[in-house]
Amino acid sequence: MVRRPESPGRIAFRSIFIAAAVSGVLLVAAFLIHHARPRTETDQPIPELVRATGRCAQCHREETPAIVHQFERSEHSRANITCLDCHQALDGQESQDHYNFTLAVDLTSLNCSSCHRTEYQQFVRSRHALPAWSAVSGAEGVPSDLVALGEQHHPGAVDRPPNALARLEGPAATRTGCLGCHQIGRPNTDGSIGSCTECHSRHSTSIALAREPQTCGQCHMGPDHSQLEIYTESKHGALFAAQRDSLNLDAEPKNLTTADMSVPTCATCHLSGLDGLRVTHDTTERLSYWLFAPVSERRPTYARGKTEMQETCLRCHASSQVSRFYDEAEAVLQQTNALIREGQDLMDGLRSDGLLTAAPFDEPIEFAYFDYWHYYGRTAKHGALMGGADFVQWHGNYELLLTLSEMKEMAAALRHGAPGR
Ligand code: HEC
Ligand code: HEC
Ligand code: HEC
Ligand code: HEC
Ligand code: HEC
Ligand code: HEC
Ligand code: HEC
Ligand code: HEC
Repeated sequence: MVRRPESPGRIAFRSIFIAAAVSGVLLVAAFLIHHARPRTETDQPIPELVRATGRCAQCHREETPAIVHQFERSEHSRANITCLDCHQALDGQESQDHYNFTLAVDLTSLNCSSCHRTEYQQFVRSRHALPAWSAVSGAEGVPSDLVALGEQHHPGAVDRPPNALARLEGPAATRTGCLGCHQIGRPNTDGSIGSCTECHSRHSTSIALAREPQTCGQCHMGPDHSQLEIYTESKHGALFAAQRDSLNLDAEPKNLTTADMSVPTCATCHLSGLDGLRVTHDTTERLSYWLFAPVSERRPTYARGKTEMQETCLRCHASSQVSRFYDEAEAVLQQTNALIREGQDLMDGLRSDGLLTAAPFDEPIEFAYFDYWHYYGRTAKHGALMGGADFVQWHGNYELLLTLSEMKEMAAALRHGAPGR
């Protein structure tokens, strides 16, 4: 639901009416004060906003107007949150003087968690937190108490060496490349973890935005995790595109029903509290396999994850449909695992016969094998579990067969060219 800002005319009328009712003297005073105020303030749509943004907005309407407009449309501005509520420096944050204000130099999730503790605590448990950062940078530079916290929820996902490919590509590429996505879980110098604005943005801080597939798709796209492409191709994605105008993406999470959203987006299945389900910022809770791994084993939380995800499906589907979907998808997953194991054995054989160096990514077959599981294997599994036929088939299984045959030829050439053969 979009709440319309009141027109300046109505506000003026109302203030005149109230003032007149109190006394004529006040009426004159109100006019004088109104005239003395700068245009930037009186032009703002409702008095609450003038208070909320105050002095910051006086300048920033000129300096960075889009930020003020975005803020004005937000739930924060309606709730009388001010610029300074977020921009003030908290304990442990570096501060700077800014036109008689003291502002934090960098804002982090700490600036949100002071008011949104529950969401922060759920987020910190998820793989969007430290595991995302350490997938690229390892535990290097992460304070030991944070390493321990991350390991408690995801053993082995934080206390690990920096990623081999990232090391080869070097810091310039990885900072804007890998970390452009993986910084969602960065360790901040104030002791907090991660960034909330990747999904909510900084100033519109919107739920509707976070429910848009495209928002998740900023990072969840491309051949190594083609979730956005799979979704777009699925029946769910097609319906969303056709019916989005009639969906209520703004519905309050606690009261979200299938009447607001009869079609799921990424958020519905992975985070939302549809029809009384619990909202969660821990995107790991509803998962049952490690799909990103070369061979996908069950997570220790397999049963709970599967039940919770299926609870979501069951808000819209019959149980027979959901069971059949899962049975078929898990069969694809097992078959993909078998193919990846075959590739793994081939690589292990070459290595144990001394035909490959221990160093990663210095022989072409290592790139072929990486594409094999990292692109095509993952794509087949993701396609099966999120309803993308083309991804199970042409971007997944077909490419798996092709690449395996190429790898076999490369392996044969290595064996043929080896000394003493
Ligand atoms: C007297 C005018 C003025 C006031 C008042 C003011 N700002 Fe600014 N602010 C500026 C100018 C000018 C810049 C620089 C813009 C640029 O670099 O293009 C700026 C920059 C900023 C930046 C970016 C700083 C950086 O280095 O990245 C932030 C954040 C900011 N202001 C927030 C605020 C907040 C919050 C308030 C109120 C608490 C506020 N400002 C009040 C004029 C003002
Ligand atoms: C919900 C919290 C929140 C509120 C409220 C808020 N900001 Fe921000 N703002 C942020 C965050 C987060 C950043 C990113 C800062 C960073 O990366 O260190 C930011 C960045 C900025 C920047 C620099 C952005 C750029 O692209 O150059 C300016 C300027 C700014 N804010 C001004 C304002 C003004 C003016 C207001 C009030 C109208 C305001 N902010 C209200 C959270 C907020
Ligand atoms: C000073 C307290 C305060 C701070 C700081 C704050 N918020 Fe909020 N936030 C609120 C209040 C109050 C509401 C509106 C009432 C509610 O829904 O709880 C709200 C609502 C929201 C919503 C729901 C918006 C909607 O469309 O319904 C999101 C998302 C959100 N905040 C994210 C953030 C993020 C991200 C930050 C940090 C960048 C942040 N908040 C900082 C108090 C705060
Ligand atoms: C800024 C980038 C970014 C955005 C935006 C983003 N993600 Fe992620 N997401 C990641 C990264 C990076 C990982 C991998 C973390 C890891 O396991 O190392 C991840 C992992 C996940 C996982 C798997 C968690 C696990 O336990 O394996 C799910 C599910 C997920 N994201 C869902 C979402 C949804 C839904 C959205 C949108 C509402 C979203 N993500 C938005 C970067 C992002
Ligand atoms: C476009 C955004 C994006 C970029 C760029 C990106 N990643 Fe990722 N990465 C993700 C997402 C999203 C996932 C989660 C995939 C899933 O769970 O299906 C992920 C998963 C991973 C994983 C597996 C999860 C884990 O914790 O082990 C590793 C390792 C990884 N990325 C490393 C890297 C490295 C290294 C780079 C740069 C060379 C990089 N990524 C570039 C978005 C990105
Ligand atoms: C209809 C529900 C549904 C929708 C919509 C959906 N997903 Fe999924 N997603 C699933 C299911 C089911 C799985 C497999 C869960 C399992 O068993 O581990 C999954 C798996 C994932 C994973 C894999 C995590 C891993 O183990 O590596 C990521 C990441 C992910 N989804 C992100 C997204 C994103 C991003 C979108 C939107 C572009 C999206 N999903 C849309 C249901 C959905
Ligand atoms: C992966 C994307 C993502 C990230 C990162 C994220 N959020 Fe959210 N957030 C969402 C989605 C999606 C919803 C709406 C859930 C729903 O549909 O029920 C939401 C809802 C919210 C709400 C409204 C909750 C309610 O019950 O009314 C608040 C407040 C909020 N987020 C704050 C935060 C804070 C604080 C952080 C950082 C610690 C954060 N979010 C990080 C995706 C995200
Ligand atoms: C918010 C409601 C909603 C949720 C949640 C949801 N779906 Fe759907 N799904 C739909 C709608 C609506 C359709 C289109 C039905 C039709 O064809 O009329 C659909 C279609 C499908 C189809 C395609 C059927 C066909 O014949 O083409 C599959 C498969 C599917 N959903 C599986 C799932 C699974 C598995 C989950 C949970 C992981 C899930 N859905 C979650 C609403 C939902």
